[in-house]
Amino acid sequence: MNEQIASIQTAALELIAAASDVRSLDDARVAVLGKKGTLSLAGALIKDIPNEEKAAFGQSLNSARAAITEALEGKQQALQEIADNAALSGIDLTLPARALPTGSLHPLTLIRDEAIRILRRMGFALADGPEIEDEYHCFDALNTPADHPARNEKDTFYFDSGKLLRTHTSSVQIRTMESSAPPIRIIAPGSAYRRDEIDATHLSVFNQLEGLFVDSDVTLPDLKGTLEYFLREMFGTSTEVRFRPHFFPFTEPSFEIDVKLQIKGQAPRWIEVAGCGMVDPAVFESINATRKDNALDPEKVTGFAFGMGLDRLAMIRWGIKDIRLLIENDVRFLRQFA
Ligand code: PHE
Repeated sequence: MNEQIASIQTAALELIAAASDVRSLDDARVAVLGKKGTLSLAGALIKDIPNEEKAAFGQSLNSARAAITEALEGKQQALQEIADNAALSGIDLTLPARALPTGSLHPLTLIRDEAIRILRRMGFALADGPEIEDEYHCFDALNTPADHPARNEKDTFYFDSGKLLRTHTSSVQIRTMESSAPPIRIIAPGSAYRRDEIDATHLSVFNQLEGLFVDSDVTLPDLKGTLEYFLREMFGTSTEVRFRPHFFPFTEPSFEIDVKLQIKGQAPRWIEVAGCGMVDPAVFESINATRKDNALDPEKVTGFAFGMGLDRLAMIRWGIKDIRLLIENDVRFLRQFA
């Protein structure tokens, strides 16, 4: 091998061996193989060499380059390994992983989703309406006269504009019938607001699930069968359900529905979970007037409606004695539903 090249190679290998980190190895690479590196400059001399020696010179040049490149790669790997080990030192890879805290669904969400699943199986589709309502959709169209107590300032949150926070989800009945024609079979879960005194069974915001079924021959037994089936799916087949005659301006006849609740260690008692009834023909009439057609002809269509308290359903399901637990979001309470 050409002596000059041999000595360049030896010097290069020493330089590489001496490199103590990635940066000094890079410097060595540039010093030897870079444009002005020792080997590159030696290679440029080939043009001054007599022709018969050119081949041998080229060969030693190539073998030197190969040896140097190999040394550079080997050293690069070794340095990387050292750097990796240093980065990992002090970390105990055998320690168990830290558990990530996971959340869970709120009991009200659980009960709402379950109610939706049961009613969907019976053909009810989801509907929706605004929580900030006008008096027409919340009261007038529901046959509720201006002097009805529910419309009182004491009981309802009014805005200066005259709009209000809906006192029940029944307004969705009206909005649905305004925009679609029978057969109608919808449910509408959502919040409702009343200026109630807050105690263990009342909040000023609570959750309802409205239902409406309008078709050509919907009867009271359909209403009873649907709601009894629903409540027994919800609470078990032996659940006692009672329909108590009541009055709502927008249904006739009307009922309140009670479920027998047995909290451990207490005497069983009836708890009201829903209001319901057959849609009053006066409601159909006022919607026809808005629609300017007779799509809900009281001579041809009948319907039933119900409004359930989702908070109540949750309280019965889990024996919760104070409704306030449902909005306080105390993790010790919520954790039980995880
Ligand atoms: N909207 C009534 C309430 O909030 C419940 C209800 C709904 C009654 C539908 C009859 C029909 O008390």
